[in-house]
Amino acid sequence: MSGSLAAAWRSHGCGELRAAHAGSEVTLAGWVANRRGHGSVRFVDLRDRYGLIQLTADEDAPASVHEALRDLHPEDVVQVRGMVRLRGEGLVNSDRPTGEVEVVPVELKVLNRAARMPFEVLDDLDVPEDLRLRFRYLDLRRPVMQERMLMRTRANHAIRQTLVADGFMEIETPLLTRSTPEGARDYLVPSRIKPGAWYALPQSPQIFKQLCMVAGLDRYYQIARCLRDEDLRADRQPEFTQLDLEMSFVAEEDVQAVVERVVDAVFLETRGSRLSLPLPRMSYDEAMRRFASDKPDLRNPLEVCDLASCAGTLAFPVFDGALARKGWVRGIRLPGGAGLTRKQLEALETSAKDAGAGGLAWCKVGDDGVPTGPLSRFLAGEAGTNFLAAAKAVAGDVLVVVADVPLRARTALDAVRRKAGALMDLGSDADHMLWITEFPSFEETEEGEWVPAHHPFTSPVAEDVAKLQSGEHAGVRSRAYDLVWNGVELGSGSIRIHDRELQETMFRSLGLTPEQAQEKFAFLLDAFRYGAPPHGGFAIGLDRLYMLLGGAESIREVIAFPKTATASCLLTGAPGPVDERQLADLGVAERGLST
Ligand code: AMO
Ligand code: AMP
Repeated sequence: MSGSLAAAWRSHGCGELRAAHAGSEVTLAGWVANRRGHGSVRFVDLRDRYGLIQLTADEDAPASVHEALRDLHPEDVVQVRGMVRLRGEGLVNSDRPTGEVEVVPVELKVLNRAARMPFEVLDDLDVPEDLRLRFRYLDLRRPVMQERMLMRTRANHAIRQTLVADGFMEIETPLLTRSTPEGARDYLVPSRIKPGAWYALPQSPQIFKQLCMVAGLDRYYQIARCLRDEDLRADRQPEFTQLDLEMSFVAEEDVQAVVERVVDAVFLETRGSRLSLPLPRMSYDEAMRRFASDKPDLRNPLEVCDLASCAGTLAFPVFDGALARKGWVRGIRLPGGAGLTRKQLEALETSAKDAGAGGLAWCKVGDDGVPTGPLSRFLAGEAGTNFLAAAKAVAGDVLVVVADVPLRARTALDAVRRKAGALMDLGSDADHMLWITEFPSFEETEEGEWVPAHHPFTSPVAEDVAKLQSGEHAGVRSRAYDLVWNGVELGSGSIRIHDRELQETMFRSLGLTPEQAQEKFAFLLDAFRYGAPPHGGFAIGLDRLYMLLGGAESIREVIAFPKTATASCLLTGAPGPVDERQLADLGVAERGLST
């Protein structure tokens, strides 16, 4: 590392000095992390990207050094020349890589003074996130943040190495483009040259990467910025980064194998551990049936059971109501859950309600096999015994049940399963990464409307094409797959439709006339007329991957300059006003002011 540091300023990085350097003269430059004095001895911790080193000035240090040290403030930038010395017996700091040595300054220059800091540059910082974001350049000085940025660098490098070795070409696709079909709202940019016309910022490079396949590039990748104007959460940002890739003449397994190799390389680079490949596969149907989720966290052993077949025998109006609406009555057996307190059970009910369900029916099974709790009223007699048996609930268990329309029941069961896993501390530490395959092509909304689950170029499964042709939506499976790690959707992709006739059938099912489809996707459909190879691809949300690898709670922690939940940048004040003049140039002034 030192070889590449500019020699005029410093000979070493602060964190590089070890016992072997004792006796040599070094020049360092960095920030004042910490100062203290003991009698006539002064200590300063000097910090740069490479670590911390202690400067120690005792009585023998030149008066000019003492004078400079007396006047130092946190985060002043200084340059120091001095001798590396082994620390005395008992003074070694084993928490620090440089802890065996210290630097005795001979000369110390203040290069720049720092103003009073809004917060201390410390790893275990306890200030509101807004303050960190407002002063992100100070927040990024913290070693933990610098490690995350370095992790991104190394992981991105491992990705590029793996893909280039596999014959992938890195292609940059435009940021100023037309709307892309990823289903979120677009960010729009007005055109100055063509007043009234707008660019859209890409939600993903989806269409361009498919054009790359038509272009015969065969294997495309890009570490791509994507922009989506959507409601934000801890794992969503308005601009984020994907590892985007596309391949020609492939089936699902080929794309998945490349993605697995890439993620494995990232694991090796950042964690020093490997994945066990190939990763397990689970169909969407199985994931829904067993875990009520398309991104199940398999560290949590709890599973969902379908109780619809016996729920109707209990004379419980809530269950009957759900069954009458073709809803779900499904439960989760919590083994040993009888130990949960009333408050914990209420927390489970709250998580079901927060997820939109009307409530959560539950009972405890006593040592004598007799149920207690709100649901037990309806569990008398043989019907009740059968119900508990269907759930395989035994003495010491709790059974929780959700009855609702499928969409809400699913969300509530997923929430309850996660919450119960956390309350009962059931999760194992072992990582679980898996593929969820054969996603449905369409989803039914609460209003009973069928909407596309993916962009319209996602190929249906061959056996389900007949259903599609006959206008059916339910049960049509697609060749789409997601990569899921510990309950987080890391990425998704699919095999695309390359056949014009099938594409038209798909558009029809989506309620698009050929004219509407042509208008929306003209340039891709035109391109497909000139020989589109069969192709498929994938995109990994890199911020999410790095969040999980870095053990961070939010993707903001691994993004250098992220936005808040209201999509603002507290550092720059974006979005902010612009000059009227700029608006006039863009031809949007009047509309901009009148609305
Ligand atoms: P999709 O829309 O599923 O697929 O996005 C792929 C992955 O990108 C990540 N992601 C996000 N990360 C942070 N903030 C967001 N707002 C955000 N939105 C998505 C997720 C997600 O799994 N073009 C298709 C891929 C393909 O079919 O090849 C696409 O973009 O980790
Ligand atoms: P109520 O009829 O509202 O008094 O509810 C009786 C019990 O049924 C309570 O324990 C509720 O939590 C539960 N409950 C209400 N709605 C649902 C639902 N959709 N699914 C499961 N249990 C429910």
